[in-house]
Amino acid sequence: MSRALRIGLAGLGTVGSQVAESVLSGVIPGVSLSAVCARDKTRDRGVDLSTVRWVDHPNDLAEAGDVDIIVELIGGTGDPAAALIDAALAAGKSVVTANKALLAARAMHLAVISEASGASLAYEAAVAGGIPVIKTLREALAGNKITRVCGILNGTCNYILSQMESTGLSFDAALRDAQALGFAEAEPELDISGMDAAQKLSLLAGLAFNIQPDTSLISVTGIEAITDQDISYAGEFNSVIRLIGLAAETPEGLVQCVSPMLVRRDHMLAQVKNELNAVMLEAQPVGQLFLQGPGAGGGATASAVLSDIADLAQGFGRPIFGMDALQMEAASVCALPPQAWYLRLALADEPGSMATVTQLLAQNGVSIEEVVQRSRNAGDTHLPVVFITHKVAPANLQAALDSLAQQDRISDQVLALPVFEA
Ligand SMILES: NC(=O)c1ccc[n+]([C@@H]2O[C@H](COP(=O)([O-])OP(=O)(O)OC[C@H]3O[C@@H](n4cnc5c(N)ncnc54)[C@H](OP(=O)(O)O)[C@@H]3O)[C@@H](O)[C@H]2O)c1
Repeated sequence: MSRALRIGLAGLGTVGSQVAESVLSGVIPGVSLSAVCARDKTRDRGVDLSTVRWVDHPNDLAEAGDVDIIVELIGGTGDPAAALIDAALAAGKSVVTANKALLAARAMHLAVISEASGASLAYEAAVAGGIPVIKTLREALAGNKITRVCGILNGTCNYILSQMESTGLSFDAALRDAQALGFAEAEPELDISGMDAAQKLSLLAGLAFNIQPDTSLISVTGIEAITDQDISYAGEFNSVIRLIGLAAETPEGLVQCVSPMLVRRDHMLAQVKNELNAVMLEAQPVGQLFLQGPGAGGGATASAVLSDIADLAQGFGRPIFGMDALQMEAASVCALPPQAWYLRLALADEPGSMATVTQLLAQNGVSIEEVVQRSRNAGDTHLPVVFITHKVAPANLQAALDSLAQQDRISDQVLALPVFEA
């Protein structure tokens, strides 16, 4: 049976104004909007807030007597978002947030104070926008043993990579397109460096594997080095390139990485295009699940925020990571298991170059499954060569890359991308 729930909403931007509009429309019975806060009181939010109290500082919401729960949609890892969430949880008020950056940075601190006060911290919107992956892991799969979580967790990178693939655009042109369409920030480093995906992966790994989320343990490679040539070579291997976040149990431990990977065209993740996100979950006894949907945008993100609000209205709260925070284990760094790699290098166009490279690879235990060498354009001194290796242990691959880096027949750094294992 639901109980009346009064919301204090901090942030009335892309997501917050959509949440305000939905709550005011009465979409969730018994839930009302008591007070709101943003920086500029005079700004038109496209929603009639004349019946809602305005407060000047986010922290006023934590203290307000007519506010039962806080919805934090300001963003950022520092104050005022951090102070507001701390104050609300300490006061026993549950919090709904979409702020993955803050959660990833302060996950354990927040889990501990939320458990101490008995207030919930709900964050469905913080990972993969409108895709209900947090609830799927924490609730729907509560009786399963999760073995692998992987997916496309950043819509900006996916837009850039899939536009490069479908239109032949360069990385820079695809990024400019994404910015013009609002799929990339004016300062896109957090997205294209892979860090945004790593923040989300750390939260998924925490939930799936009962470990303390820690982005510093995730091996992170961004998409900045991917060229239109890589996209085209990947096509020759019947593959596309996607930025994949992966957390998986292996015999050596829990692997956590974010990297552009070659994905076979016939795999579900290869079909995920543009700004969409997707998450693939593997668990026992359920098997494999695949969730796909909009990973960002006001409507999709508000949808996830509203579902958390509806849960709290039903009195339904859970520990942040589905278990007692003090029992969550610290994770450690674990290298990828042996696997195939895509290697792209620029090789001097002179006799013996290819033999030198293949010898160096062989000496380090790296065997080649496929190779593509492009013909020479007039004036080129180096030719692009691409290898797909057989499965190789990470230490061998690194030794081979170190040897290649000493070679003056190779210009520039060798690009090494994992081949995604279905
Ligand atoms: N947008 C998405 O697609 C998306 C997707 C997933 C998650 N998220 C997360 O959702 C959260 C909100 O994102 P958003 O895109 O809605 O951000 P946004 O459009 O930039 O809105 C931020 C809001 O916070 C307010 N604000 C900023 N500083 C403040 C301060 N010092 N005091 C009071 N209010 C302040 C702003 O006020 P003014 O309007 O007056 O400037 C604005 O209303 C972030 O954590 C973001 O990471 C967003």
